[in-house]
Amino acid sequence: MTLTNKLAPGSIGVFDSGYGGLTILSEIQSLMPEYDYIYLGDNLRAPYGSRSFETVYEFTKQAVEALFGMGCNLVVLACNTASAKALRTIQQNDLPMLNPDKRVLGVIRPTVEVVGNISKNGHIGILGTIGTIQSKSYDIEIAKFYPDFKVSGQACPMWAPLVENNEYENEGADYFVRKNIGQLLTKDADIDTIILGCTHYPILLNSIKKQLPENINVISQGYYVANSLKDYLHRHTDMDSVCKKNGITRYYSTESPEKFEEAASIFMGKKVSAERLIIQ
Ligand code: DGL
Repeated sequence: MTLTNKLAPGSIGVFDSGYGGLTILSEIQSLMPEYDYIYLGDNLRAPYGSRSFETVYEFTKQAVEALFGMGCNLVVLACNTASAKALRTIQQNDLPMLNPDKRVLGVIRPTVEVVGNISKNGHIGILGTIGTIQSKSYDIEIAKFYPDFKVSGQACPMWAPLVENNEYENEGADYFVRKNIGQLLTKDADIDTIILGCTHYPILLNSIKKQLPENINVISQGYYVANSLKDYLHRHTDMDSVCKKNGITRYYSTESPEKFEEAASIFMGKKVSAERLIIQ
């Protein structure tokens, strides 16, 4: 029996701890506007970046279950911290019990896959949350594809909170961006490519660009994750056939929907209407 026989058509779920996943969703929407999406931001419990492995795993699993409960057959963890700390356990241990026909994908692998096309000298910098950097997920994944590359990581614990609190375009943000980029470049002065390894960080791009020499490439993940998802659906036609295609996106936040609508409308550059979702 194929997936098509077992699953009812549903939206593609896109999950993040907060607003960051919107930087992924907007690229996915512009590449594949015909699909239906459900965005879920766990703003109530964001940021995830400095939380323990167990907590990030537990929160992420709850979010995946909630999205499955809303009919999603495919969920993208548009959050590096969740991808680093929870994806593998969910895929290997939980999916077989939750629903072996559904799928959960992350954002780290699609980003790593393109780094070799962008870097000229193989010196890569990763900016991410404490959780993502400590997990060494990027180092491990890059070593699989490009064993000769030198990878240096820098945690930026203030960046996601600056975005979540709408403080991303002021001198305070510039201060922390300058500080962490300085720390990264001290680890390896030859870095020619920096991965923004947190989906919140493209929102700080103006500030990041101000601090970086022009010869350093900055990789924002959205474009690559969107293309990788498109490719995935192309290769998995049984999953594609159970993804609804009415061009509708619904937005959910675990915090106040009004607050979410206000911030998300700025990040998405269009009006967004949201509902509250309680997950536990
Ligand atoms: N946007 C998330 C990421 O990509 C997490 C930020 C946070 O909640 O700390 O890692």
